Amino acid sequence: MNANEQQQLEQIKDYALGQATDDETGHGVDHIMRVVRMAKTILRRIPQANELITLAAAYLHDTYDEKLVTDVPAAKQALRDTLTTIGLTADQVSQIFAIIDNMSYSKSLEGAAQPLTLEGQVVQDADRLDAIGAIGITRAIYYGGRFGEKVYDPSIAPRTDMNHDEYRNLDHETIINHFYEKLLKLKDLMNTDVAVSIAAHRQEVMVDFLGEYQAEWHGEE
Ligand code: ADP
Ligand code: NI
Repeated sequence: MNANEQQQLEQIKDYALGQATDDETGHGVDHIMRVVRMAKTILRRIPQANELITLAAAYLHDTYDEKLVTDVPAAKQALRDTLTTIGLTADQVSQIFAIIDNMSYSKSLEGAAQPLTLEGQVVQDADRLDAIGAIGITRAIYYGGRFGEKVYDPSIAPRTDMNHDEYRNLDHETIINHFYEKLLKLKDLMNTDVAVSIAAHRQEVMVDFLGEYQAEWHGEE
């Protein structure tokens, strides 16, 4: 990135962090900063990806999520205005929107996602890597606790083959089931080679955790 792009990225960061809340239900400042750090790690292996577009989308990826804002079109327009004021071209702005619009897990379950650009693949990998491993375990527990989910109930079987509507309308989920219903599947959805290998390690961390949980649950020695 040249000096001008670096300055633009600083302004994008300020906007994104200003929009983020400081809770840890999944999309706070801490999540954004981890996604950006992971995107930088992945970019080191993929020098042909555009750094400004990738890091801008990493900072901004949750700024108009329907789970987080009440008026999505208004939030999108506010972001568009901000990026234009910062001096991004219409083409850069549309590249960033195309990433944010097509990277989510629910969008891919819906079957409605457009193929991601290389930059989008990097951001999607970074976001998904933040849902697995040790951080993924703590995020799931924190989120479940915050929203009154049970930790575990052996009488509720995980449903591993849900479509988009079923996933959205799921009401009996437990935190442990969330691993089987979503988190353990993410490793097979990585785009870049480096993310595939990071995800393999994080998968082991989750599988070990789930195995330990079962052993302790059953009172094993
Ligand atoms: P994203 O928008 O990044 O796809 P979500 O809003 O679905 O993420 O989830 C934020 C975090 O909370 C993730 O780490 C996710 O695994 C966790 N989470 C989401 N839904 C549940 C759930 N029903 N139970 C436990 N954790 C959840
Ligand atoms: Ni995210």
